[in-house]
Amino acid sequence: MRVLGVIVAAYEKASGLSGTFRPDIVEVRRTLDVVVDDITEEAGGVRSLRLVAADGADLPGWHPGAHVDVVLPSGRQRQYSLTGSPRAHDHYRIAVRAIPLEHGGGGGSLEVHSLEVGQPLTLRGPRNAFPFIGVDHYLFVAGGIGITPIRPMLYDAIERGADWQFVYTGRDRGSMPFLAELTELAAAYPDRVHLRPDDEFGVPTGAAILDYAPDGAALYTCGPPPMIEAIRGMIPAENIATLHYERFSPPPVVGGEPFTVVLARSGHVVPVAEDQSALSAIRAVLPDVAYSCQQGYCGTCPVALIGGEVDHRDRCLTAAQQESRMTICVSRGVGRVTLDL
Ligand code: FES
Repeated sequence: MRVLGVIVAAYEKASGLSGTFRPDIVEVRRTLDVVVDDITEEAGGVRSLRLVAADGADLPGWHPGAHVDVVLPSGRQRQYSLTGSPRAHDHYRIAVRAIPLEHGGGGGSLEVHSLEVGQPLTLRGPRNAFPFIGVDHYLFVAGGIGITPIRPMLYDAIERGADWQFVYTGRDRGSMPFLAELTELAAAYPDRVHLRPDDEFGVPTGAAILDYAPDGAALYTCGPPPMIEAIRGMIPAENIATLHYERFSPPPVVGGEPFTVVLARSGHVVPVAEDQSALSAIRAVLPDVAYSCQQGYCGTCPVALIGGEVDHRDRCLTAAQQESRMTICVSRGVGRVTLDL
């Protein structure tokens, strides 16, 4: 995502979007040395990596919805959902869709696709920005690579004997990761699993998706922005108790005003449009600027603030840190800001 693989979670009470609740994201400073143990092609342009500890030890436990920060050999950091079983302590599994640079990729997913078995990597985490609540009724909705965080949730619900429905969409069958496995699941649960490639069924509307929900469902969804927005547009809905979604692209800028960023070290003066993030504007002149989540919580992108006023919109800096730093993926300057870049 990625920006595929980049994770953001939001948790909203379906009874009123104004009551948005953002879960606290507990920073996990733990660093793990792992090795790529196996690589599997999961769909066109999607591969999964099995990661094991470099010393062969068990890996820390996690809950569905968790992700890890992956530090790639280039130094890029990207975040990927853990998509294996939380019961397997001897490995993690992540799945990544390759996003070409000309399609907005930042190079991280392509780098993942260039890795080979035996490659050492560093992980940070796991941590969970998409917490999975234990209730009795669920509607799971995954679009394409958005299956990665949903998959362990689905199996958890099955193991717990919960009432669930699962809708899986994608451009076509060839682009849908884990489809063979999920087709087997559909054979076992034909009334619960709904595989809907767009080229066969058309793009489902938000209403069509919500029709699958059991009454009182917690709706968990991850997928492309239009799918998420179509679902959000239907909330509140009678049969949905809570809505939980994870984006794998940056959220749209809300209430943005244009401003200017002066990059003191490189000498660039960068205009930032009202609907653009400072990060995306800066990347046009400094393509290697560090970032990861693009949603203000991972702490990768904050830079030293030399001058100017900032509208801080991040969740990674303390108030004291915000006095001298700006999280360029989400925070906005007021008029003109000068950064140490
Ligand atoms: S990229 Fe994660 S906080 Fe900005």
